[in-house]
Amino acid sequence: MKLRLQTLSPWMVIVASGLFIGATARDCVFTDPIDTEFYSTHDALSALDGCTTIVAETIELSALYDDLHLPDVRNITGSINVARRTTSWRSSGGYPILSTIDLPNLEHLGALDVRNATAMRNISMPRLKDVGSIYVQGSLSDLSLDFRSLERVPAIGVSGRLEALNFDSLRTVDNDLSIDSCGACGRWDLGREQETSIALLFPSLVSVGYLKVSGYLNSINVANLVSAGPPLDPGDSQLSTDSGARLHLTQANETLSLNLTNLAAVDKQLYIWGEVGSLKMPALKTTNATIHIDASAPLNISLPLESAESIDLRGRITGVHLPDLSTDTSITLSSIYECEEDEHSSLTNVTCHIPSTGLSKAAKIGMGVGIAAGVVLIVLAGFFCLKRSRKRKADSREIVDLPAYGTGSAVPLQPGGRPETPPPPYSAGPT
Ligand SMILES: *[C@@H]1O[C@H](CO)[C@@H](O)[C@H](O)[C@H]1NC(C)=O
Ligand SMILES: *[C@@H]1O[C@H](CO)[C@@H](O)[C@H](O)[C@H]1NC(C)=O
Ligand SMILES: *[C@@H]1O[C@H](CO)[C@@H](O)[C@H](O)[C@H]1NC(C)=O
Ligand SMILES: *[C@@H]1O[C@H](CO)[C@@H](O)[C@H](O)[C@H]1NC(C)=O
Ligand SMILES: *[C@@H]1O[C@H](CO)[C@@H](O)[C@H](O)[C@H]1NC(C)=O
Ligand SMILES: *[C@@H]1O[C@H](CO)[C@@H](O)[C@H](O)[C@H]1NC(C)=O
Ligand SMILES: *[C@@H]1O[C@H](CO)[C@@H](O)[C@H](O)[C@H]1NC(C)=O
Ligand SMILES: *[C@@H]1O[C@H](CO)[C@@H](O)[C@H](O)[C@H]1NC(C)=O
Repeated sequence: MKLRLQTLSPWMVIVASGLFIGATARDCVFTDPIDTEFYSTHDALSALDGCTTIVAETIELSALYDDLHLPDVRNITGSINVARRTTSWRSSGGYPILSTIDLPNLEHLGALDVRNATAMRNISMPRLKDVGSIYVQGSLSDLSLDFRSLERVPAIGVSGRLEALNFDSLRTVDNDLSIDSCGACGRWDLGREQETSIALLFPSLVSVGYLKVSGYLNSINVANLVSAGPPLDPGDSQLSTDSGARLHLTQANETLSLNLTNLAAVDKQLYIWGEVGSLKMPALKTTNATIHIDASAPLNISLPLESAESIDLRGRITGVHLPDLSTDTSITLSSIYECEEDEHSSLTNVTCHIPSTGLSKAAKIGMGVGIAAGVVLIVLAGFFCLKRSRKRKADSREIVDLPAYGTGSAVPLQPGGRPETPPPPYSAGPT
């Protein structure tokens, strides 16, 4: 393969940039994308090593098999791609096998697009300030990402077996911020204790278009988040797929505490599923979002919420305390526990009792070995709660039954018009 590499001499660069760039600065300009489609790390290094600025539409690294380390590069105008199934003889058309991309001084990058790179372990761009979008998907290799200087980005999508993410300075994601940590994916030999889990820390995040989190976490911190949605570029399907927040959380050791202390605005949806032991959301007062909480750990819901499009609470709800909720917000409750409304028969003040005779234990076992016993108890408990909510016919509040989430808008029913088939009282998650 013939590379047409056009480099400017150091002297020309010094003259052109008014002496701001050191004598080693080098611009490498590639006009034909073929010239930046590399088939080995050696090829890539001989073309790129020593460049300070790389002007190229794409840098295609899918066929590389050794680590890529480029300490001099500061600015890459195009995108880095590790995405295609390659047809190179070396990888015989399989997935990319590159495992490390280390660009310690990179500050500006057009985009990062890493897909199906099952062997990717480490992407390190600790000085990156400016990037079009980041997609890193499909790693099965305990991936670590370091983007610690990044403050604002149009969209981020990360999925795979994740070990560590550093987005410590990230304040704004204009559209999607999607993180899917798949625990034991690709490692069927591992038991649950050994699944890879991550601490999902976005300590500086203030605003996001759509926050989507799923998977195995040992902690989550989005405590500074103020708004979730709407996205900045809703028409751009590359950057924006939805609005609001959907959290599908599975804990790694003990239940997660979800601290959304500053969250004041949510657009369209707030969906929380999973092993959340406590939920703090004191700043959210009014929202046009549908709020859907499906608790798989005992959860007491106590919020100063005043209005929402609708509220649907399911699973291991131990109490509902929504003293400020306006009467035109519809609310449904389907707890697996035995619930008692207050004397006004209001779903905004409900206490549920975890049976002392070990239902919670049985239900836990139900998720693992003793399925039969657990399921029977859960179904009984659900039936009991359903009967109770049927008793609520007198309530003037409109009863809304949300179908499986995301299948469209809720269909309001007439009071008492609740369907005969009960909704599943408890949706067991993947364990
Ligand atoms: C990156 O390099 C390109 C081409 O030289 C230049 O146009 C652009 O301004 C540079 N970006 C930054 C942020 O320095
Ligand atoms: C590559 O990854 C994408 C998701 O990033 C997935 O939809 C696609 O099926 C994968 N391709 C192959 C060949 O597995
Ligand atoms: C990733 O690579 C960087 C740079 O080479 C290194 O400093 C860091 O320790 C690596 N991280 C992991 C988890 O291997
Ligand atoms: C959960 O596990 C992570 C590591 O996997 C650890 O850092 C964290 O302290 C653990 N939390 C508790 C409460 O044990
Ligand atoms: C929640 O986050 C806020 C803001 O970071 C912090 O001040 C507060 O102590 C946290 N609360 C809990 C219970 O962790
Ligand atoms: C919902 O509220 C947000 C502000 O919180 C607003 O930007 C958005 O347009 C509203 N959406 C609808 C459908 O009313
Ligand atoms: C739930 O929270 C409310 C309000 O904070 C409190 O009064 C109630 O005792 C709590 N219930 C349980 C079971 O912890
Ligand atoms: C909630 O219900 C309990 C018991 O029915 C009652 O004692 C309490 O005053 C009620 N709280 C509110 C805020 O209505």
